[in-house]
Amino acid sequence: MQPSEDLLEMIASFSGNLVALTGAGISADSGIPTFRGKDGLWNRYLPEELATPQAFARDPELVWEWYAWRMRKIFKAEPNPAHIALALMERKGLIKAVITQNVDNLHERAGSRNVIHLHGRIDEMRCTECGKVVEVTEPPESIPPHCRCGGLMRPNVVWFGEALPQKELNLATELCSSNNVVVIGTSALVQPAASMPFYAKRNGYHVIEVNPNTTPLTGIADLSIREKAGKAFEEVCTILKEEEIR
Ligand code: OAD
Repeated sequence: MQPSEDLLEMIASFSGNLVALTGAGISADSGIPTFRGKDGLWNRYLPEELATPQAFARDPELVWEWYAWRMRKIFKAEPNPAHIALALMERKGLIKAVITQNVDNLHERAGSRNVIHLHGRIDEMRCTECGKVVEVTEPPESIPPHCRCGGLMRPNVVWFGEALPQKELNLATELCSSNNVVVIGTSALVQPAASMPFYAKRNGYHVIEVNPNTTPLTGIADLSIREKAGKAFEEVCTILKEEEIR
C-alpha cells in the first residue's frame, strides 16, 4: 500500500476520535521557514534577542522589525495540501480539532474551524497596557505600533519564558488525552506540546507521525510517514475532495 493509503485508512478507522497536533513543518511546504534544522530561523537568529519579553523591553523596534518580516512572509503564503486535508477532514467529521504551535493562520485560511493556537497568533497584536487585542492583515505601518490608549502594542504570541494561554492548554491536554493524535511537522522538542502525544498513547490511543525526519515521538508512533506534509497529504486531499464532489 502507498503511505497515503495507509494514512487515510488509519484516519478513517478512528471514526472521528482524532485530533491533529501541528508544528512549523506543516507550513514549510507553504514557504514559511521552520525554527530548527539546517534552514531554521533559530540557526540564523537568536531567540533571546527576538522572542522573549526581555528582548521586547530592551528593543521593541528590533523585535517588531523581525515580526513584520515574518508577517509579510506568512500573509502572502498559501495553505498547502496538508492544511487543506485537515480542513476537509474536519468537515467530514474525521477530526475534532487542530492543535497548533504555529502562529500563522494557514489552518484557518484552509477552512479549519476548530483551531487551538498554543503559541498565539501573528495576525493579532495586543496592548501591553490595556490588553486590547487587535487583528491585523498586514504589518503595522509605524514600528513599534501603539494602542489608542497610548500603550505599546506587542505581537500576540507566546515568547520564551511566558506561559501558554490557559484555556487553550487545558483544551489541548484534554483532547490529546482522549483521542488518537496525528502529529505533523513538529520536532517535539518544545514543551508542553511535545508531551501531548504521550498522553494519547498512555490512554490507549494511537499516534501517527508525519515528518521527513525522526523525532522523540517516532518511538511511540503506530504509523510513521517519513515524508513532507504537503506530499503525504496530497493524495488524501485529492480523495477527500473527490468525495465532496460525489
Ligand atoms: P521546529 O522547527 O522545531 O521543527 C520543525 C519540524 O518539522 C522538524 O521535525 C522537521 O523535521 C519537520 N519538517 C520540516 N519540513 C517539513 C515538511 N515539509 N513537512 C513536515 N515536516 C517537516 O518547529 P516546531 O516543532 O513547530 O515556539 O517548534 C516548536 C516551537 O519552537 C515553535 O512553536 C516556536 C519554536 O521556538 C515559540 O516561538 C514559542
